[in-house]
Amino acid sequence: MNSTEVKQTGASKEAIQSHYDVGNAFYKLFLDDSQTYSCALWEEGDDLEKAQERKMDYHLQEVNALEKEAILDIGCGWGALMQKAVEDYKVGAVDGLTLSQEQLDFVQAKKLPRLEVKLQSWDVFEPNKTYQGIISIGAFEHFAHLNMTKEERIERYRTFFKKCHKWLSRGGKISLQTIGCGNMLREDFSTFFAQQIFPESDLPRLGEIMEAAECLFEVERVRNDRMMYGKTVRLWLKRLIKNKEAAIAETSKEVYDRFVKYFKLVIISFEAQKSMNLYRITFKKIEQPRSYEIVN
Ligand SMILES: C[S@@+](CC[C@H](N)C(=O)[O-])C[C@H]1O[C@@H](n2cnc3c(N)ncnc32)[C@H](O)[C@@H]1O
Repeated sequence: MNSTEVKQTGASKEAIQSHYDVGNAFYKLFLDDSQTYSCALWEEGDDLEKAQERKMDYHLQEVNALEKEAILDIGCGWGALMQKAVEDYKVGAVDGLTLSQEQLDFVQAKKLPRLEVKLQSWDVFEPNKTYQGIISIGAFEHFAHLNMTKEERIERYRTFFKKCHKWLSRGGKISLQTIGCGNMLREDFSTFFAQQIFPESDLPRLGEIMEAAECLFEVERVRNDRMMYGKTVRLWLKRLIKNKEAAIAETSKEVYDRFVKYFKLVIISFEAQKSMNLYRITFKKIEQPRSYEIVN
């Protein structure tokens, strides 16, 4: 992929697969049983399974998913939230998008009714229905590329919000979860992260997200749960270290060492340096944006 394409699209399928397709068996060694790969929502007494379930319930409730006709999960990972939407929330149709082949195969193998997953980026997705809710957890971090200017990033995020606006029915909501830059300079996003962990990706600032959504969505709720991400990653690190031999057997010593280093850096970033935040933002569709220009 040439640099112009990368600039326009954020992380490419190849870049996403370099991270997410190191093998489902490897991820199983440190994630919880639901294979959720994003910050959990902790309350007193929770274990990782419970806190991940609480997080999924949070997002489904933020978009009022119960018994709705259709919900879209952008960046659906291994499909746990989609499954919950079908089984516990009785949603009529649950669509999911991922750029990872391994995740797609994993979700499809479950053969769940009313659930459809596509190996497709949101920017080429053309749904045949409208949705009452859109949930996107841990994918927004991949929507812009490190070499973009601030203006280009905001434009790219705005394209995302415009599409969501078009796909949502009246009163529709987005529940978005993303890591954002905290007390850090853009240059601080180390070459280790940018090249070896999440290539072709970059973190948004809260203000950029808000500017991109302006006049398309009203903001109903914003939370910053950065300490909860520290706690989540601590448990992933503990499980990975405990399963060191199996992890190396599934991948390699190089992959194991890279993930251990990445988890340690992430914990410091969320907890001590405050350089990364974890945002959960609920948006409600504005039916009639003041300017027609804004949505077209
Ligand atoms: C950190 S994982 C989170 C998965 C899941 N939401 C969870 O919480 O476990 C990020 C997900 O975003 C997906 N993704 C990244 N960029 C995307 C894009 N442009 N369009 C659709 N999915 C994308 C990846 O394929 C992956 O499934």
